[in-house]
Amino acid sequence: EPSLDNIRLKAKFGIGAAVTNSELNGQYANTLRTHFSQITGEYEMKMAHIWKGENNYDWTAADGMVNFAATNNMDVHGHTLVWYNSFPNWFRNANYDSATFETKIKTYIETVVGRYKGKVISWDVANEIFNDDGTLRRDGCPVFRTFNDPIAFYGRCFEYAQAADPDAKLFYNDYNVVLAAGKRGAMRQMVNRFRADGYPIDGLGDQFHYMASTNRTTIRNGLTDLASTGLQIHMSELDIRINVNKDDNFVYLPSEQAKHAEAYKDFVTFFEAIPQSQKFAITTWGVSDKRTWLTSWWHPKEYPLLFDENFQKKKTYEGFLEGLQ
Ligand code: G3I
Repeated sequence: EPSLDNIRLKAKFGIGAAVTNSELNGQYANTLRTHFSQITGEYEMKMAHIWKGENNYDWTAADGMVNFAATNNMDVHGHTLVWYNSFPNWFRNANYDSATFETKIKTYIETVVGRYKGKVISWDVANEIFNDDGTLRRDGCPVFRTFNDPIAFYGRCFEYAQAADPDAKLFYNDYNVVLAAGKRGAMRQMVNRFRADGYPIDGLGDQFHYMASTNRTTIRNGLTDLASTGLQIHMSELDIRINVNKDDNFVYLPSEQAKHAEAYKDFVTFFEAIPQSQKFAITTWGVSDKRTWLTSWWHPKEYPLLFDENFQKKKTYEGFLEGLQ
């Protein structure tokens, strides 16, 4: 039956991909509408792209994604409202006091979440606020660094998002979560603080930028621990590196492809092991190997996704499918 050879039809949770608005046509669009049920903007729903100035918003790309999803019966996951890395320079370099800073962030959240109310089902309200050891990152503009109770600030950001769209699911998103016990502990503490102080949160995302060689026991145990919070779990930016040694002479041989498929099967199997009610989605960070951030961040000879540069299914797609229950 068709459902047995198509991840979108077989999965009992969201199957997402990170997309770029300008590519939403041709084979790219056909691959998305056939195999995926939701999309995340790889860049164009971030503050740096949308917030050109105090009262100057560029909605073109985000509207394009939302319209594409609506036309193709797909959901949109909003990424991301508050991420120090994506503050536009005009905002980052302004020397607001903390009250003014927060007022402007509040306006940004209300404006963006309000515009897509009912059209974006979930948001990464905050992204990457902790270091792997669980301490708070001190990146970003000076004011951002000086909040005396940063977790309460983030809690209020979740409140601002909830007020703007009460039906949207609100996530905290980070990387290395299942690998770094310190970071995971800090996330758990934040969730407990939110619950104690009445701040809303629905889910947690681990980006899952891992390697075919990443320790399976660590991943499985970390994911089980993360799910024990009881929140929705999003494998939010899945790509699996196969050229683990950044080898300039790497060749994506059938033996490598088999290893790669096994890794996808294992990771999907671990996700399937968490309670069904907590499975939000698995989102791959890109559609095909033709465009992946890893080309520059890791190595040009990297083939991390489910489709090749001609949008043909890879062995990794089959591995993903085998991992689905
Ligand atoms: O679109 C502009 C273009 O108009 C401009 O000429 C060009 C040169 O400045 O920049 C283009 O924007 C780039 C954008 O990707 C679109 O390609 C930005 O410079 C570049 O910084 C941006 O990189 C993105 C990065 O996040 C930073 O936002 C990557 O595509 C994206 O894959 C990466 O994704 C992150 C997640 O959001 C969070 N987790 C880690 C993940 C990988 O870094």
